[in-house]
Amino acid sequence: MSTNSHKPSKDRILNLFANATQASIYVAQQIAALITQQQKQGKLAVLGLATGNTPKRVYQELVRLHQNEGLSFANVVSFNLDEYYPIYPEDEQSYTYFMQEHLFKHVNIKPQHIHIPHTRCETEDILDYCKEFEDKIASFGGLDLQLLGIGRNGHIGFNEPGSSFDSATRLVNLHAVTREDAQADFGGLDQVPQQAVSMGVNTIRQAKRILLLALGERKSEIVSKALQGEITPEVPASFLQSLAQVEYVLDHEAAGEII
Ligand code: PGA
Repeated sequence: MSTNSHKPSKDRILNLFANATQASIYVAQQIAALITQQQKQGKLAVLGLATGNTPKRVYQELVRLHQNEGLSFANVVSFNLDEYYPIYPEDEQSYTYFMQEHLFKHVNIKPQHIHIPHTRCETEDILDYCKEFEDKIASFGGLDLQLLGIGRNGHIGFNEPGSSFDSATRLVNLHAVTREDAQADFGGLDQVPQQAVSMGVNTIRQAKRILLLALGERKSEIVSKALQGEITPEVPASFLQSLAQVEYVLDHEAAGEII
């Protein structure tokens, strides 16, 4: 695939914050505003959600808004970006478990509105399962807002280096850096799954609005490559440069190398 076809969008929206807490609160407020605005119109808010260390404080703030300020999740439909394969939803390293612990069990989201790529299906059923996941997103009219983190290797979701701009939800092989970064959670590299189910780049880029949140100094190098480097499948987050609906939300440390 030629990458020359992806031209950077002219109006990059970059929001810089002094620290991770402020950046996270901003993202939570954006999500809360969307939920409320949709509620007022009697509509569902279809959210694409992320896991990892980065969004933890976003979810913490959303829980606070629910508990202290009456933010209702009754109209929220969620789709998570990815899940390890194989894994059981009740495993503590699973993203199902993560989402329950950090958000879902604390708010009034309807269980039937929660969609996390599940991996109970046999490998030969995965293709069908991935197609159903895409169809399900489409059946709700697409994602209103997709929250993204970024991996140190430039992945978004588990779209690892080499992922194509047109990739759909699929079974992927995890990159060495991704597995290395997950080893502490799994108690050793050999315990980290080799594969995952992930929304594709194409799935992500259909979202009406995309917020990429990056926090901390260890992300500064890849943030610089993703925002200012060549648009290339080797840095899947660089594909976002060609989309007008993307907003980058960075703390001071993650923004360090941006000129
Ligand atoms: P992290 O992961 O938030 O745990 O750094 C981000 C990502 O891999 O997308």
